[in-house]
Amino acid sequence: MTYPTTERMIRFQDQVVVITGGASGVGRATALAFAGEGGRVVVADVAEEGGHATVEMVRQEGAEAMFITCDVAQPDQLQQLVSETVRTYGRLDVAINNAGVGGVFARTADVPAEEYHRVVNINLGGVFFGMQYQIRQMLRQGGGCIVNVASLAGLRGFANCSIYTATKHAIVGLTKASSAEYARKNIRINAVCPTYTRSPLFEQLLELNPSYEEKFKLNIPMRRYGQPADTAQAILWLCDPRNTFVTGLALPIDGGMMAV
Ligand SMILES: NC(=O)c1ccc[n+]([C@@H]2O[C@H](COP(=O)([O-])OP(=O)(O)OC[C@H]3O[C@@H](n4cnc5c(N)ncnc54)[C@H](O)[C@@H]3O)[C@@H](O)[C@H]2O)c1
Repeated sequence: MTYPTTERMIRFQDQVVVITGGASGVGRATALAFAGEGGRVVVADVAEEGGHATVEMVRQEGAEAMFITCDVAQPDQLQQLVSETVRTYGRLDVAINNAGVGGVFARTADVPAEEYHRVVNINLGGVFFGMQYQIRQMLRQGGGCIVNVASLAGLRGFANCSIYTATKHAIVGLTKASSAEYARKNIRINAVCPTYTRSPLFEQLLELNPSYEEKFKLNIPMRRYGQPADTAQAILWLCDPRNTFVTGLALPIDGGMMAV
């Protein structure tokens, strides 16, 4: 039997980490967290100003980073993201499929068809096609680690967010199925499922509906909202090179919500 050692290590020294949606919120916090532990970070986003700002923050931490413009709803751009990363850094160790949109806040019967397609193409297509190119590269190099950012809406229903909820459930299903496919190929694939998290995406919802601020919090046993860094730390734990036996997991980051 082997036991983990307690020797100190920089967990992601020189690992190449791609993060979609890295211009803001959870993606930016994750980029900074990897950079703080030795990672070389590729920030991908449609938001160029925010993406460059994340890269600047990472560099100020003394780590390497670059920005690649990428619309995750366009599979060819996801392919370019992987090929440009490999051209620059030679490999892809970690992929965080985080880019996502909330979609219109409305009941199912009132959601316009074009909103359905927009949210599905970004939230689900972005993860599915992203994983295709990431996995092909990881197979070529002999391994890697993927974390898909789902949501607590991937584990239970949230009213007025049916398309969002459907895409996040789909991400959990995709994570489980593909994790089994590559379990013997040294590729671990997991998902994180954060509850309400104080990123620009959530702040926009609160701005439109200020009464939700106190109301939603009552559902969370810890009686506080998540911070982007809470999700970032869970992502790093899933990607920790010593964390070798966890795959196919959909991990709630929810202040205890799923426990009650
Ligand atoms: N904030 C929350 O309460 C919460 C809760 C659960 C899950 N999540 C998930 O966390 C992830 C990150 O969201 P966040 O809260 O940091 O929101 P955010 O809006 O701060 O960040 C999302 C990022 O994705 C980018 N993006 C949007 N569409 C894109 C596209 N087509 N191609 C590339 N990039 C695109 C945005 O430009 C932005 O930088 C999302 O998948 C979201 O669903 C958020």
